[in-house]
Amino acid sequence: MLELPFSQASENNKQVILEILKRHLKKGDQVLELAGGTGQHAVHFAANLPNLHWQSSDIPSNVSILNLRLARAKLANLPAALTIDVNNSPWSNHRPTAIFSANSLHIMSADSVENFFTGIGEVLQANGTLLVYGPFKYVGEFTTASNADFDRWLKDKDPLSGVRDFEWISDLAAKANLTFIEDNPMPANNQLLVWKKAR
Ligand SMILES: C[S@@+](CC[C@H](N)C(=O)[O-])C[C@H]1O[C@@H](n2cnc3c(N)ncnc32)[C@H](O)[C@@H]1O
Repeated sequence: MLELPFSQASENNKQVILEILKRHLKKGDQVLELAGGTGQHAVHFAANLPNLHWQSSDIPSNVSILNLRLARAKLANLPAALTIDVNNSPWSNHRPTAIFSANSLHIMSADSVENFFTGIGEVLQANGTLLVYGPFKYVGEFTTASNADFDRWLKDKDPLSGVRDFEWISDLAAKANLTFIEDNPMPANNQLLVWKKAR
């Protein structure tokens, strides 16, 4: 059997993220995951939140390998992933009641981050929830020296990537009609940010 890509970070953070998702997601939610990656998050969350529908997605070059893991999980509430690049419009016909994305904003370019929020403003249903996990800077400062090292490492690989400013992200979210409701400090110098779309 083909060996699936594996992220130790996803393995380490999936349970602590799940505990926050349980507080914000409700029975019947139609969740869209952007930048699903290895699918470890999608499988863990769909298995542990069987009363909601988990629709993962990723860019064309990653969606086949993501789908291998999702197919092996054989979960009724976890369909095959969609192909979504946040830079393409429209993303899909889906109108999710919640959107989740982990470790994506520091990988994408700044333009892509803007498109991420513009797209969410278009597809997320009124009163829907946005949950974004990853590292952030506050007032231009890294939360830890290791996040500053991580930012340098990212930029060495791709100068357009990098740890994003919370304030900039907040402005983009506000333009997308999202109200900030929670900043959850997470292990390994990450945050889980939560917004609610206006009714
Ligand atoms: C570091 S991985 C994170 C994967 C997974 N969410 C996790 O936490 O392990 C970054 C992800 O962003 C996706 N990505 C990069 N550019 C994207 C874009 N323009 N639109 C959608 N996803 C993108 C990549 O394909 C990859 O799956």
